[in-house]
Amino acid sequence: MRARESGELQGKLYEMLVTPAGNGWRAVRVAFIGAGKRASFDTDKLRRVAAAAALNARQRRVQRFAWAHRGDLPLGAAVQATTEGIVLSAFSGDRYKTADRGAPPFEDVLIVVPVGTEQPSRLEGAIERGRVLGESSNVARELSNEPSNVLTPAVFAERAKEICTAAGLGVDILGEREIADLGMGLLLGVARGSDEPPRVIVMRHSPPDAPRSPVLGLVGKGITFDTGGISIKPADGMERMKDDMAGGAAVVCAMRALAILRAPIHVIGVVPATENMPSGRAVKPGDVLTSASGKTVEVINTDAEGRLILGDALWYAQKLGATHLVDVATLTGAAVVALGKVTAAIFGQPDDWVQRVRETAMAAGDRCWPMPLYDEYAEQLKSDIADIMNTGGRPAGACTAAMFLKEFVGTTPWAHLDVAGVAWLDESKPWMAKGASGVAVRALAELAFTSDTWT
Ligand code: BES
Ligand code: MN
Ligand code: ZN
Repeated sequence: MRARESGELQGKLYEMLVTPAGNGWRAVRVAFIGAGKRASFDTDKLRRVAAAAALNARQRRVQRFAWAHRGDLPLGAAVQATTEGIVLSAFSGDRYKTADRGAPPFEDVLIVVPVGTEQPSRLEGAIERGRVLGESSNVARELSNEPSNVLTPAVFAERAKEICTAAGLGVDILGEREIADLGMGLLLGVARGSDEPPRVIVMRHSPPDAPRSPVLGLVGKGITFDTGGISIKPADGMERMKDDMAGGAAVVCAMRALAILRAPIHVIGVVPATENMPSGRAVKPGDVLTSASGKTVEVINTDAEGRLILGDALWYAQKLGATHLVDVATLTGAAVVALGKVTAAIFGQPDDWVQRVRETAMAAGDRCWPMPLYDEYAEQLKSDIADIMNTGGRPAGACTAAMFLKEFVGTTPWAHLDVAGVAWLDESKPWMAKGASGVAVRALAELAFTSDTWT
């Protein structure tokens, strides 16, 4: 209170004041953290503020952490978001360090809420949900941080199988033979240049008492390393392309979360996994590939590989029965140019489905901003010799990439999240360590609990 009056603590977002606890406190030290302007405070801010406080405390080697809840946000959602933030702060990206490792996670965490404002069982449910969603995000961060020499397509598939089997999901891993039998020429075309064989990770959440329809289909880009292929990328910053499977990791880990939390709906997850490499066998500009759907694609730029593998995967998810689709992909640099590292881009059809997905994602802390799919963009993809080209030139690069995907979803409700700008933090933020962000895990998992509002 005194610090507030003297101006020492202004309440700016993430500003922290740590002080010895006075008499009457059961804690050794108390930290106050600024939450910013009251008018713009919501559960998303709360999640970040809790994560920032917990990260700070962890860096101070605090072992027992208690959070005193304040404010008038709906308590269940607030407790869930607080738990997510605290769990997210436990992540360390130091698996390969043999010295100078980060501080361990807390031994003990307490969330203190006012008495009698909500049924204890509901609050326990909120904590459980926050814990599972936070942990699943951290599993995705771990996967995305893995270097590509460790996380090859085959290893990605094996890890996904372990993660999903432990969560009670059905998992099938398709190898080269099965991928060829399905006619996935786009995925095989991208995989040709690599010595590592491709995989398709197929996950099923099939609760016996769920209605047969709708079926949610989640599709994630699983490029374990993107060199660009023959249209090779510049050396500067190429190491970042080990996280080009962040969308795939989001799908695997969202499936984990929604299975543990028993989402009352059938969900299918499809992750096409491969490297994009140059070699004597690699696909070349001008080559024509035939997709599993039958459409032919002229490859103009081998660096536009994500849309190729997703084309086959979106087709496959529908073949497996998906009635509603969402894909997540680190798809275009153009999405980063358009929206920066602040928000993902969301595209899709029809508008009410896109809106449904967007609202869910925003509440889960996965920001996304709507972008258009005007028919005119399709003209940029017209090919002289095949049905479509895989690139549409510089203008509206994120839109033409989404337009390419649209060719493979027909009229099925579909939302596409281009997360190229938000899957990775170049600098650490008060609320999150640098590296993989665990983007879209919570959005996708939460979506599986909203099916009563779908049309
Ligand atoms: N994985 C990249 C997109 C990307 C860029 C993700 C930066 C994260 C950060 C994607 O495969 C790619 O290379 N896209 C090309 C497409 C272009 C050749 C039409 C791009 O955006 O430059
Ligand atoms: Mn690429
Ligand atoms: Zn890529």
